[in-house]
Amino acid sequence: MSLENHTAVVTGAGQGIGRAIAKKLAADGARVAALDINETTVQETAQLINEAGGRAKGYVVDCTKREAVNAGIDQVVADLGGIKILVNNIGWSGTSFFEDEEESYWDQVIAINLKAPFLVTHAVLRSMKEQGEGHIVSLASDAARVGQLQGVAYSACKGGISAFSKGLAREVAKYKINVNCVCPGPTNTPLYESAINDKIKKAFTQIIPMKRIAQPEEIANAVAFLVSPGASYITGQVLSVSGGLTMAG
Ligand SMILES: NC(=O)c1ccc[n+]([C@@H]2O[C@H](COP(=O)([O-])OP(=O)(O)OC[C@H]3O[C@@H](n4cnc5c(N)ncnc54)[C@H](O)[C@@H]3O)[C@@H](O)[C@H]2O)c1
Repeated sequence: MSLENHTAVVTGAGQGIGRAIAKKLAADGARVAALDINETTVQETAQLINEAGGRAKGYVVDCTKREAVNAGIDQVVADLGGIKILVNNIGWSGTSFFEDEEESYWDQVIAINLKAPFLVTHAVLRSMKEQGEGHIVSLASDAARVGQLQGVAYSACKGGISAFSKGLAREVAKYKINVNCVCPGPTNTPLYESAINDKIKKAFTQIIPMKRIAQPEEIANAVAFLVSPGASYITGQVLSVSGGLTMAG
């Protein structure tokens, strides 16, 4: 139970990887604030954690809107205490070729994948500094490392999150705040189901050295390590969890 007395914020905790992260951090002892735009699923996540003996509360927050984010984070601090852990998990992409996309589509991809982590991180930093400790992990993607066909804007945003994490890591290290990135490979979630066609799914299982996609819990385990005391001297790093699909040098 290495995260006792830690309040953790997890965005996009209503399903998929975010739900798995919320459950894992709660199992490790954290009080979890589960944030999502979807009220039904985020309350389900909180209920699942509480029924399993953990402590969690669901918050309906559109993480792309500054006022909603600031109000949500203030409420988390009031309910669960100062924040020591933030997991920027929300992310989204459609599937289309860059040449066919409208500006409104790029705005949406940038808002969800890049602006939302900026807003939420900005909102929690003061609380982390007050705690004298902080651990931030953002979910990027292997698309940041190798690019994604029909996901050009998404790849750009995920590359941006990787660079954002490194820059921020340098600024906040003096406050004992570490900032890292996890890049999932293909992972069994509703986003993967909707965004990846059957031909590409089949190709993935052939080219991934481990011959299968990830389960959300396998991504959650890496995130839980990076926010734990065991990772106290790790900052500005980008970790792929992809069954060997990508191998960083
Ligand atoms: N699943 C994969 O194969 C895969 C691969 C690489 C990276 N990732 C990344 O991992 C993260 C999680 O992916 P996932 O597959 O679990 O996604 P998902 O779509 O299954 O879940 C995302 C959650 O975020 C919530 N959300 C969306 N917009 C929101 C907003 N504006 N405010 C608050 N909540 C919002 C959704 O309601 C949903 O509950 C994302 O950053 C994604 O880009 C996923």
